[in-house]
Amino acid sequence: MTRFISIVSGKGGVGKTTTAINLAAALSSCGKEVLVVDGNTGTPDVGLHLGVTKFSTTLHDVLKGSKTLRDAVYIHSSGLKFVPASISLDETKTVDIDNLHQVMLDLYGTTDIVLIDGAAGIGKEALSVIKSSDEAIIVTNPDIPSVTDSLKMTRITRENGIKVYGVIVTRAFDKNDVSPENISVLLDAPILAVIPEDFAVRKALSMKQPVVFSHPEAESSVAYKKLAAEMLGQTYSQKIGKKGFFARLFGM
Ligand SMILES: Nc1ncnc2c1ncn2[C@@H]1O[C@H](COP(=O)(O)OP(=O)(O)OP(=O)(O)O)[C@@H](O)[C@H]1O
Ligand SMILES: [Mg+2]
Repeated sequence: MTRFISIVSGKGGVGKTTTAINLAAALSSCGKEVLVVDGNTGTPDVGLHLGVTKFSTTLHDVLKGSKTLRDAVYIHSSGLKFVPASISLDETKTVDIDNLHQVMLDLYGTTDIVLIDGAAGIGKEALSVIKSSDEAIIVTNPDIPSVTDSLKMTRITRENGIKVYGVIVTRAFDKNDVSPENISVLLDAPILAVIPEDFAVRKALSMKQPVVFSHPEAESSVAYKKLAAEMLGQTYSQKIGKKGFFARLFGM
């Protein structure tokens, strides 16, 4: 059975794409088949995070009906599998994301987990991503504006009959943060992980690699890998992320 999980947020720029990429990389190094779909058709950035901008087939082609999602799967040098969206403004203007749910069915049974990276906010685009999933992960920063917007997102997710799997707090910094406990109470959802503010994430972005691959020992990487192990009911081991990735690299 394929698990479809959307990665969404109320506020933009909180770390959704970073989370989608790194959680996918960590889950696949735990032995699962994982695919990241860039469902942010307006301002897509999965390809940008991975250093690729030109694709012969994108989610936009799939939504227009000329290709299937399976035609649009790419493999990054890290081994990460992903479906990019087009960064062209013209293509964005003409695409209809309403049938995302329909095209996503093509992936059923082909992989263990699909992580769908969503657009920020409570607009049509984000809602289409939520409706294409069975469960949603809400990503928030630990500040009042971000948490307040997450509350809206959480409510809208539930109003659409989609389960809120939990919340990932990213860019956690210091005691001035809203605490994970308070975020959990406010959103009435479990905190899946707290990812610290980590310079290694920025370095990984400039290297166009998932941080769990480029900096496996970094605090953020360990947090993503612990979350992946927990999601799969596995015991976290420091080896997660090393063997899998290198095996994949040599395999390519
Ligand atoms: N734990 C972290 N530590 C430091 N920087 C981080 C961390 N997580 C994310 N960032 C940085 O924050 C910025 C925004 O991250 P990202 O692109 O993942 O957010 P997003 O929610 O996908 O944004 P958008 O809403 O525009 O799609 C990036 O520059 C990223 O490198
Ligand atoms: Mg993003």
